[in-house]
Amino acid sequence: MRMSTKRLVILGGGGFRVPLVYGALLSPSSPIGSVVLHDVDPGRLAAIARVLRAQALSSPAAPSIETTTDLTEALTGADFVFSAIRVHGLEGRVIDERVALAEGMLGQETVGAGGISYGLRTVPVADAIARRIKLVAPDAWVINFTNPAGLVTEAMAAHLGDRVIGICDSPSALGRRVVRALGLPDARVSYAGLNHLGWLTGVQHEGADVLPRLLNSSSLLESFEEGRLFGAAKIRELGAVPNEYLHYYYDHAALVKAELAAPETRGEYLLRQQRECYAMLSSQSSPLEAWNAARRQRDATYMAMEGLGERDDAEGGGYEDVALALMLAIARDAPTSLILNVRNQGTLPLLDDDAVVEVPCAVDGSGARPLPGASIPAHGAELVKRLKAAERAVLSAASSGSRSVAVRALASHPLIDSVPVARRLMTGYQANFPELSYLR
Ligand code: G6P
Ligand code: MN
Repeated sequence: MRMSTKRLVILGGGGFRVPLVYGALLSPSSPIGSVVLHDVDPGRLAAIARVLRAQALSSPAAPSIETTTDLTEALTGADFVFSAIRVHGLEGRVIDERVALAEGMLGQETVGAGGISYGLRTVPVADAIARRIKLVAPDAWVINFTNPAGLVTEAMAAHLGDRVIGICDSPSALGRRVVRALGLPDARVSYAGLNHLGWLTGVQHEGADVLPRLLNSSSLLESFEEGRLFGAAKIRELGAVPNEYLHYYYDHAALVKAELAAPETRGEYLLRQQRECYAMLSSQSSPLEAWNAARRQRDATYMAMEGLGERDDAEGGGYEDVALALMLAIARDAPTSLILNVRNQGTLPLLDDDAVVEVPCAVDGSGARPLPGASIPAHGAELVKRLKAAERAVLSAASSGSRSVAVRALASHPLIDSVPVARRLMTGYQANFPELSYLR
């Protein structure tokens, strides 16, 4: 028997990707002995719990599984809280996309108008959750995957300080692909930015920066996902390897055009696919097979939609592995370094100390601290500052309930081109989201 005693609470426990997290916890090194799934939707909760129970059959030391729709009950006794909620569900993601596209703007779930709308309805919920955690489980470590992850982590940090740590799989996946392309799996990467707005700016190997070796070779660059996404020429022009989400900035007009022409958005596709999947999960005798089939289908669409080749989530290193690595380092007090969303504390001089940034961190039993030496490419500095200003306006709108400040948040986003457009977007979002009625 494994000596795993820690209690992990998963908020958004009825979410489609929860079995990935539970699958990671089946690893013999996992410190987690019990899992509590919390969700506001009892149907989804029951469906996903069935999948987890089927996963557990294959592993004698699998963590126990409980479910509840009561937040206080869920949080009581928690050592770790993993938050992956989606306020207004995938229906909300579709509204984020469609209201923006109707204005000729991007409605991506985390970038542009969609990300601001999603933030405006999520921050009040994340704030309430953070307050409850502080009351009920003040010693718990909180791992935030709820998007927009940087902004939501900053909202929660107002109550939880450095006890909340935001995660994303994209920076570490980029780092892994870059060192593999260079054939230097032990090299260390320099990376910095905000969540979904960061750059890989160097690769340290035997005391030298070997990134130029990559930048000078089109075939090496185009041997991995981000290299193909941006193309070798663009990456050389930028002088750094951008996070995949910078596609929405660097190729903005082309993407808006493509999204407007596409038969369905990412949110519409996922909504359709997941409706079918959850219906199957509650009726089928083999929930794990049904879930696996839906997951394979979802993964295959990355290839079809982006023309990139299959995502390498399948080979490991997805967000569930980042979460597990983080919990392991904390629970076992085993020092490691990971790229995480934490308060800046002087790491990036262009932002204040409380701004949550995404940078390499030293992690051990005392938590995560940003490592010194992170830097943003000069051309990206203004973009980072403008996005942080937009995020700060979201936080301020959420705490004051001011619609004007919410419009300001939209208008300050680097991808929204005017105040009148921002105002119309706000009207469109408020007409569709009861969660935004607090903005007056
Ligand atoms: C990555 C990002 C997440 C994002 C997800 C979207 O994992 O790091 O922040 O939510 O992709 O994937 P989806 O399948 O929902 O489009
Ligand atoms: Mn992410």
